[in-house]
Amino acid sequence: MEMSRNASSGDRRIVIEGVGHQYRRGARALDGIDLKIEGGLFGLLGPNGAGKSTLMKILCTLLVPSEGKASVGGFDVVRQRGEVRKLIGFLPQEFSAWRVQRVHEVLETMLLLSDHCDRAARRERVDKVLEAVGLSEVADRKVKKLSGGMRRRLGIAQALVHEPPFLVVDEPTVGLDPEERLRFRGLMAELAKDRSIILSTHIVGDLGSGCEDLALINRGKLVFRDSPRELIKRARGRVVELALSGGDESVATDRLEIVSRTTEDGWVRIRGVLIGDSTLDGAKEVEEPNLEEAYLAFMLEATGASLDQSREVF
Ligand SMILES: Nc1ncnc2c1ncn2[C@@H]1O[C@H](COP(=O)(O)OP(=O)(O)OP(=O)(O)O)[C@@H](O)[C@H]1O
Ligand SMILES: [Mg+2]
Repeated sequence: MEMSRNASSGDRRIVIEGVGHQYRRGARALDGIDLKIEGGLFGLLGPNGAGKSTLMKILCTLLVPSEGKASVGGFDVVRQRGEVRKLIGFLPQEFSAWRVQRVHEVLETMLLLSDHCDRAARRERVDKVLEAVGLSEVADRKVKKLSGGMRRRLGIAQALVHEPPFLVVDEPTVGLDPEERLRFRGLMAELAKDRSIILSTHIVGDLGSGCEDLALINRGKLVFRDSPRELIKRARGRVVELALSGGDESVATDRLEIVSRTTEDGWVRIRGVLIGDSTLDGAKEVEEPNLEEAYLAFMLEATGASLDQSREVF
């Protein structure tokens, strides 16, 4: 699908310098974040409360940072917020559409608000974006009759309809079933070909293979910034596999953060990350940890704490 009118030209960078944020009545949500992002699909990972949504709202000009500065495509998010808004499409974590509107009406309303007034052109744009997210067949359906996955895709459509070169999506797969998630990953990889996408999630599997660059934040601080490959490299030696007969897992649970568990012929096969300096008899090192295991290994080391809340199974 060609939706790259604005997307192919111009500065594709997001630059974040010393950004901190303190909510008036609340926690210190961000602290000294420095980050340069260039094109493609960028993953922003972190457990609940890490500050992901706060950072995204700052980039989308919905929140003024207490400290530091940020720019999108060369425009400052505070001083040039009008310019930034034209460049960015945003799917907020709590996206919802007016339930009685029809799918195409939601998008036409969005376009009207961003002053695309020619009716035929509007209609054409809406059709194009609906096709891109796979919603053409339900264009006339009311929002309240969409499935959860379709609603998230409508969320993406509303973020894309003005053809922005930057797309910011905050936890886009919450509540989706595995099949919808897979589809969503494919859509993100496709869209990332001709625009910059920042995708925040605490479900590591959602980044998919289209993501070559990521950052981890924890308690408002940037703790890692590199490729998924590098994160996996760092986890080597800490991810192990263990087969237990009889299913008594208690030997493992206090020394291992378990990531996956499969049962086969009465044996339970467990994969997970060793906690601290633990060793575990009979455990075999996993040569190629997956990204979820690598993320967990990193966060366990960085925080020394359990990350139960971020362990939603993919
Ligand atoms: N409007 C607000 N007022 C006060 N504190 C807030 C507000 N919004 C968020 N916070 C706090 O700021 C911190 C960061 O929240 P934020 O929503 O940015 O995290 P997150 O990484 O998006 O988490 P999640 O994965 O749960 O969406 C948290 O401690 C949160 O409680
Ligand atoms: Mg959030």
